[in-house]
Amino acid sequence: MFVHHNVDLAPVTAFGIHAIAESYVEVDSVDKLREAVAWARTNGVDFHVLGGGSNILVSGNVHGLVIRACLLERSSAVEGDVVTIRCGAGEEWHSVVTWTVEHDWGGLENLALIPGTVGAAPLQNIGAYGIEQSSCFVELEALDVLSGATIIITKDECNFGYRESIFKHEYCNRMIITSVTYRLSTNPTVHATYRDVVDELVARGCTQPHVKDIFDSVVAIRSRKLPDPNVIGNAGSFFKNPIVDGQTFARLHEENPTLASYPQPDGTYKLAAAWMIDQCGWKGHREGDAGVHDKQALVLVNHGNATGQQILDLSTRIQQSVQERFGVALEREINVW
Ligand code: EPU
Repeated sequence: MFVHHNVDLAPVTAFGIHAIAESYVEVDSVDKLREAVAWARTNGVDFHVLGGGSNILVSGNVHGLVIRACLLERSSAVEGDVVTIRCGAGEEWHSVVTWTVEHDWGGLENLALIPGTVGAAPLQNIGAYGIEQSSCFVELEALDVLSGATIIITKDECNFGYRESIFKHEYCNRMIITSVTYRLSTNPTVHATYRDVVDELVARGCTQPHVKDIFDSVVAIRSRKLPDPNVIGNAGSFFKNPIVDGQTFARLHEENPTLASYPQPDGTYKLAAAWMIDQCGWKGHREGDAGVHDKQALVLVNHGNATGQQILDLSTRIQQSVQERFGVALEREINVW
């Protein structure tokens, strides 16, 4: 195992922000991952696990060891119309989704073009266009850094919620996800209820959408609205859509009849943070190289040489203005290092 020192994290993070990792290692097996954790222990430093780097903002230089988990593995088993796939944590998410769609296995097609790796998907419980990865999730394998053993963690144990899982809480820095298993179908019911997807299918003249139609529509929508991290640094939605109680929603709706919102099964309402940020006038705003995307106000961007601190400061000002105007607190969706 070869540990590098003073490594710039810009090439391995979607924000492309220059920040130095004190120590850095890429591992391609669970044994090497175990060794890397042991190295950090022996040297008395913290470790930080990096997947595709698509959901983090590095706000300054990083002390300790950054471990990039490049665990590649893909297998599938078909039984009747049930397909079980198992993928290594380092597999690129969109590449896996493309692979499943090529086989006409349904379940993950709404989650096309989400940047990042398979290992990061359960952590965030990634979701888009009416689906979350939890809807196909079976179990995952993780390295327990305390015992050094690999263990299976079932769906129930993961405590999945909206952009939430146990890996952001109790299991943070304790379990490192090494592979994930999903259950798909050769005979799926497609999910085509999200407004943008419905509109795209209509525009394509598609009345009986199949897995590939949903996939193509989502790719088209995302390509139009969201910036490509290979072209302009960003980590997708910077904030979560806030969830408020019925009374708060009623007040906000009366004051703002066009407020975009989604009623939840428990009587609460999820509000479109993008709409509120947009209303506060931030869309397309730029301060030096830190900015807000001009087509999606929920996405902060690095136009070139922004620092992590500049992006973070801009995000704080956005939170303050949404709080002042709507009385709603925005919570960051991305992880800040
Ligand atoms: N809107 C605005 N201004 C904007 C952008 C959007 O007013 O600049 C309005 C839209 O008109 C729409 C509403 O806000 O009525 C919601 O917009 P959109 O459909 O684009 O979705 P979102 O709520 O902003 C969420 C996810 C995205 C996911 C989309 C589609 C979160 C934090 N974000 O965004 O996920 O792709 O829905 O399902 O839940 C991500 O997590 O990185 C991500 C991109």
